Amino acid sequence: MNRRTFLASVVALLLGGWRWRSSPLSLDIYIVPGGGYPYELPPLPYPYEALEPYIDAQTMRVHHQGHHATYVSNLNKALAELPAFQSLALEELLTQLDKLPSSHRTTVRNHGGGHWNHTFFWPLLTPKPQSPSSALQKQISAAFGSWDAFRGQLLDAAARHFGSGWAWLVKTPSGQLQITTTPNQDNPLMPYAEVRGKPILGIDVWEHAYYLKYQNKRTEYLSAIWNIINWEKVEALLG
Ligand SMILES: [Fe+2]
Repeated sequence: MNRRTFLASVVALLLGGWRWRSSPLSLDIYIVPGGGYPYELPPLPYPYEALEPYIDAQTMRVHHQGHHATYVSNLNKALAELPAFQSLALEELLTQLDKLPSSHRTTVRNHGGGHWNHTFFWPLLTPKPQSPSSALQKQISAAFGSWDAFRGQLLDAAARHFGSGWAWLVKTPSGQLQITTTPNQDNPLMPYAEVRGKPILGIDVWEHAYYLKYQNKRTEYLSAIWNIINWEKVEALLG
């Protein structure tokens, strides 16, 4: 490789990194339907009581009508004051939070993140417990050693995460599968995430997701929620 081709390679690498950081279009993940302001609370894809006995109806009602609705409302209030950003899809906002005015960045980060994360989360749960397909198990096992190792690593990360946040299975831009956690309502789309990429599975570990039924026993909630993960949806996201 001569000096010229070497420099061209360096520039291409830098541009690739720049595109990933600045362009949400490299992400094949648009979860929030319709996109753009004003956002609406999406209906749950099942009744509030459908996830019993794993997650109780009251928790689901408060979580959806209380917490999620508040994220939507506060995101809309922030965007009402940011007309230049109203036409962006939510994913575009979240991947480019660093471009928002500092006066509104934290609100969009918290409430836009809250809206995206919960819109992503609800369809990842199913009232009809299902087994992961052998193809999905094979794909996951290739990345983590075995299905049980994957389960152990994900639930352990979720259990150990300090305070409020989320545990994720993420597909990185290079195609690797990784487990990570984010604080508060951050997610792997955001420029602040330790592991950035396409979320494949997210588990809400805020106390509001389990406290009414499980109180401080987060590990019991995690064992329960494992029974109602929609593996068909996970497989579809994995692609
Ligand atoms: Fe939540």
